[in-house]
Amino acid sequence: MHKQTVSRRGFLKLGGATAATVGLVAVTPQMAAAQEEVAAPNVALPYPDVDLTDLATAVTSEAPQYFSYPDDSSPCIMLKLGKPAPGGVGPDQDIVAYSVMCTHQGCPLNYDAQTGTLKCPCHYSIFDAELGGKMVIGSATVPVPQVELEYDEATGAVRATGLTGLLYGRVSNVL
Ligand code: FES
Repeated sequence: MHKQTVSRRGFLKLGGATAATVGLVAVTPQMAAAQEEVAAPNVALPYPDVDLTDLATAVTSEAPQYFSYPDDSSPCIMLKLGKPAPGGVGPDQDIVAYSVMCTHQGCPLNYDAQTGTLKCPCHYSIFDAELGGKMVIGSATVPVPQVELEYDEATGAVRATGLTGLLYGRVSNVL
Protein backbone atom coordinates (compact mmCIF):
# COMPACT_ATOMS: atom_id res chain seq x y z
CA MET A 1 0.00 0.00 0.00
CA HIS A 2 1.29 3.43 -0.99
CA LYS A 3 1.52 5.79 1.91
CA GLN A 4 1.43 9.44 0.89
CA THR A 5 3.52 11.86 2.89
CA VAL A 6 3.20 15.62 3.00
CA SER A 7 6.09 17.86 3.91
CA ARG A 8 5.59 20.59 6.53
CA ARG A 9 5.73 23.27 3.85
CA GLY A 10 3.28 21.35 1.68
CA PHE A 11 0.97 20.92 4.66
CA LEU A 12 0.97 24.63 5.32
CA LYS A 13 0.29 25.41 1.64
CA LEU A 14 -2.53 22.90 1.59
CA GLY A 15 -3.98 24.40 4.73
CA GLY A 16 -3.86 27.88 3.28
CA ALA A 17 -5.49 26.82 0.02
CA THR A 18 -8.21 25.00 1.91
CA ALA A 19 -8.89 28.00 4.11
CA ALA A 20 -9.11 30.24 1.05
CA THR A 21 -11.53 27.85 -0.63
CA VAL A 22 -13.69 27.61 2.46
CA GLY A 23 -13.70 31.41 2.65
CA LEU A 24 -14.98 31.70 -0.91
CA VAL A 25 -17.61 29.01 -0.52
CA ALA A 26 -18.90 30.57 2.69
CA VAL A 27 -20.04 33.72 0.83
CA THR A 28 -23.67 33.15 -0.06
CA PRO A 29 -25.42 35.13 -2.81
CA GLN A 30 -27.25 37.02 -0.08
CA MET A 31 -23.99 37.92 1.63
CA ALA A 32 -22.46 39.03 -1.67
CA ALA A 33 -25.49 41.22 -2.40
CA ALA A 34 -25.30 42.74 1.06
CA GLN A 35 -21.61 43.52 0.55
CA GLU A 36 -22.36 45.24 -2.75
CA GLU A 37 -24.92 47.46 -1.04
CA VAL A 38 -22.33 48.82 1.38
CA ALA A 39 -21.21 52.07 -0.18
CA ALA A 40 -17.50 52.69 -0.53
CA PRO A 41 -16.35 55.15 2.14
CA ASN A 42 -15.92 58.69 0.89
CA VAL A 43 -12.43 59.68 1.95
CA ALA A 44 -12.13 62.79 -0.23
CA LEU A 45 -12.16 65.86 1.98
CA PRO A 46 -13.91 69.00 0.77
CA TYR A 47 -10.76 71.07 0.46
CA PRO A 48 -11.29 74.65 -0.62
CA ASP A 49 -9.77 75.90 -3.85
CA VAL A 50 -7.69 78.93 -2.90
CA ASP A 51 -6.13 81.25 -5.44
CA LEU A 52 -2.45 81.76 -4.62
CA THR A 53 -1.43 83.43 -7.87
CA ASP A 54 -0.31 86.64 -6.17
CA LEU A 55 1.91 84.70 -3.78
CA ALA A 56 3.31 82.57 -6.59
CA THR A 57 4.18 85.74 -8.49
CA ALA A 58 5.91 87.25 -5.46
CA VAL A 59 7.77 84.20 -4.18
CA THR A 60 11.52 84.02 -4.78
CA SER A 61 14.27 81.84 -3.36
CA GLU A 62 15.06 84.67 -0.93
CA ALA A 63 11.48 85.62 -0.19
CA PRO A 64 9.18 82.79 0.93
CA GLN A 65 5.51 83.69 1.13
CA TYR A 66 3.24 82.87 4.04
CA PHE A 67 -0.44 82.02 3.93
CA SER A 68 -3.00 79.79 5.62
CA TYR A 69 -4.58 76.67 4.19
CA PRO A 70 -7.12 75.08 4.35
CA ASP A 71 -8.25 77.51 7.07
CA ASP A 72 -6.94 80.37 9.17
CA SER A 73 -5.64 78.01 11.85
CA SER A 74 -3.21 76.30 9.51
CA PRO A 75 -0.14 78.40 8.66
CA CYS A 76 1.74 77.45 5.50
CA ILE A 77 4.75 78.58 3.53
CA MET A 78 5.30 78.86 -0.22
CA LEU A 79 8.85 78.36 -1.49
CA LYS A 80 10.65 78.77 -4.79
CA LEU A 81 13.35 76.12 -4.74
CA GLY A 82 15.17 76.98 -7.94
CA LYS A 83 14.91 73.43 -9.28
CA PRO A 84 12.07 71.03 -10.09
CA ALA A 85 10.66 69.29 -7.04
CA PRO A 86 7.92 66.74 -6.27
CA GLY A 87 4.60 68.58 -6.38
CA GLY A 88 6.35 71.66 -7.76
CA VAL A 89 4.38 73.99 -10.02
CA GLY A 90 5.05 77.04 -12.14
CA PRO A 91 7.15 77.40 -15.29
CA ASP A 92 10.12 75.79 -13.51
CA GLN A 93 8.10 73.29 -11.47
CA ASP A 94 9.91 74.57 -8.42
CA ILE A 95 7.18 76.32 -6.46
CA VAL A 96 6.06 74.20 -3.51
CA ALA A 97 4.13 74.84 -0.32
CA TYR A 98 3.97 73.19 3.07
CA SER A 99 2.29 73.40 6.42
CA VAL A 100 4.69 75.01 8.87
CA MET A 101 3.34 73.13 11.87
CA CYS A 102 5.88 70.53 12.88
CA THR A 103 4.38 67.05 12.86
CA HIS A 104 5.98 66.28 16.24
CA GLN A 105 4.31 68.80 18.53
CA GLY A 106 3.22 71.59 16.23
CA CYS A 107 6.03 74.12 16.65
CA PRO A 108 6.40 76.55 13.75
CA LEU A 109 9.03 75.47 11.22
CA ASN A 110 11.68 77.79 9.81
CA TYR A 111 12.86 77.57 6.22
CA ASP A 112 16.59 77.21 5.61
CA ALA A 113 17.24 78.17 2.00
CA GLN A 114 20.85 76.99 2.20
CA THR A 115 19.80 73.37 2.71
CA GLY A 116 16.29 73.47 1.24
CA THR A 117 14.87 72.24 4.51
CA LEU A 118 12.24 73.19 7.07
CA LYS A 119 13.71 73.13 10.56
CA CYS A 120 11.95 72.89 13.88
CA PRO A 121 13.43 75.00 16.69
CA CYS A 122 11.71 73.00 19.44
CA HIS A 123 13.20 69.51 19.16
CA TYR A 124 15.25 69.91 15.98
CA SER A 125 13.31 67.87 13.47
CA ILE A 126 14.27 68.62 9.87
CA PHE A 127 12.05 68.14 6.80
CA ASP A 128 13.26 68.16 3.19
CA ALA A 129 11.34 70.78 1.20
CA GLU A 130 12.90 69.44 -2.01
CA LEU A 131 11.55 65.93 -1.38
CA GLY A 132 7.90 66.47 -0.56
CA GLY A 133 8.46 67.33 3.09
CA LYS A 134 10.17 64.05 3.90
CA MET A 135 11.40 63.80 7.47
CA VAL A 136 15.18 63.86 7.57
CA ILE A 137 15.94 63.67 11.26
CA GLY A 138 14.51 64.50 14.67
CA SER A 139 11.64 63.68 16.97
CA ALA A 140 8.92 63.81 14.32
CA THR A 141 8.01 60.53 12.68
CA VAL A 142 6.04 61.59 9.63
CA PRO A 143 6.59 64.08 6.78
CA VAL A 144 5.24 67.60 7.03
CA PRO A 145 2.06 67.96 4.94
CA GLN A 146 2.60 69.42 1.48
CA VAL A 147 0.01 71.74 0.01
CA GLU A 148 -1.19 70.39 -3.32
CA LEU A 149 -0.86 73.12 -5.92
CA GLU A 150 -2.32 73.36 -9.40
CA TYR A 151 -0.84 75.54 -12.11
CA ASP A 152 -2.58 76.88 -15.19
CA GLU A 153 0.02 77.30 -17.89
CA ALA A 154 -2.23 79.51 -19.99
CA THR A 155 -2.92 82.08 -17.30
CA GLY A 156 -0.13 81.48 -14.79
CA ALA A 157 -2.71 80.97 -12.04
CA VAL A 158 -1.73 78.88 -9.02
CA ARG A 159 -4.32 77.36 -6.71
CA ALA A 160 -4.15 75.31 -3.53
CA THR A 161 -6.42 72.29 -3.78
CA GLY A 162 -5.51 69.95 -0.92
CA LEU A 163 -2.91 68.57 1.44
CA THR A 164 -0.87 65.38 1.31
CA GLY A 165 -0.89 64.54 5.01
CA LEU A 166 -2.65 65.14 8.28
CA LEU A 167 -2.02 68.51 9.90
CA TYR A 168 -0.56 68.44 13.39
CA GLY A 169 -3.16 68.11 16.13
CA ARG A 170 -6.08 67.30 13.88
CA VAL A 171 -8.21 64.28 13.21
CA SER A 172 -9.21 65.79 9.87
CA ASN A 173 -7.61 68.56 7.81
CA VAL A 174 -10.99 70.07 7.01
CA LEU A 175 -12.84 70.88 10.21
S1 FES B 1 7.77 70.16 17.81
FE1 FES B 1 9.12 69.98 16.14
S2 FES B 1 10.53 68.48 16.74
FE2 FES B 1 9.19 68.67 18.43
